[in-house]
Amino acid sequence: MAERLAMTGADFSMHYCTRTVDRAAFLQRFNASRYAPRVQFHFYDGAADQKLNLAAMLADPQAGVHLYVCGLKGFMDAVLKTAREKGWPGGQLHYEFFGAEVAKSDSDAGFEIQLASSGRVIAVARDQTVTQALSTAGVKVPTSCEQGVCGTCLTRVLSGVPDHKGMYLTPEKQAANDQFTPCCSRAKTARLVLDL
Ligand code: FES
Repeated sequence: MAERLAMTGADFSMHYCTRTVDRAAFLQRFNASRYAPRVQFHFYDGAADQKLNLAAMLADPQAGVHLYVCGLKGFMDAVLKTAREKGWPGGQLHYEFFGAEVAKSDSDAGFEIQLASSGRVIAVARDQTVTQALSTAGVKVPTSCEQGVCGTCLTRVLSGVPDHKGMYLTPEKQAANDQFTPCCSRAKTARLVLDL
C-alpha cells in the first residue's frame, strides 16, 4: 500500500511498530524507499520519545483522512479502540486481522436458518456453524478464513437478528443486522432468513 501511495503521490504517513529493532523485518526496505521520510518506527523496547502514542496520533480525525491498520489482535484492538474513542467514523477505519479467536457466548444454542429463495428451513445445531449446516444440506457458501476475518462468506440477513462474531464487520455494520459472517456468527433469534 505504501509503495502504491508513494507512486500516486498521495499524502500519507506510516507507523511501523515492532517489539525490538531486530524484529523490524522491513527496516532496510523502508529506509531505502522513496517514501522513507513518511515512515516512523516505534520499538516497544526503545526510548520513550519514539514509542507509539496512539492518543496523540489519533486525536484529530478529519474528513477524508483514513486509518489503515493490520497486525496482532491486541495491537489492533488498542488502535481501533483509541480511534473510536477519538471520534473516527467507522467508514474511515480499515483493518485486517491476521487471525482471531471466535468468542463463545450464551447464544451458542441451536437455531434455524431459512433460505429466502426456496423457503427451505435448515437447523443449525449447537456445535455447528451456519456454513457447516448449509454445507451438510448441500448449500455451498464460499469461505476462506472461517474466523470472521476475511468477509468471503458475507451473507445478507433478511430477517431475524444475527449474533455477530468475528471482526470483519465494523460495529456500525454489525448494528444494522442486515448481513453477517455465517462461518462463525450465530443468531439471537430462533430463526434467521438469509438471502440465499
Ligand atoms: S470465511 Fe472469512 S469471514 Fe467467513
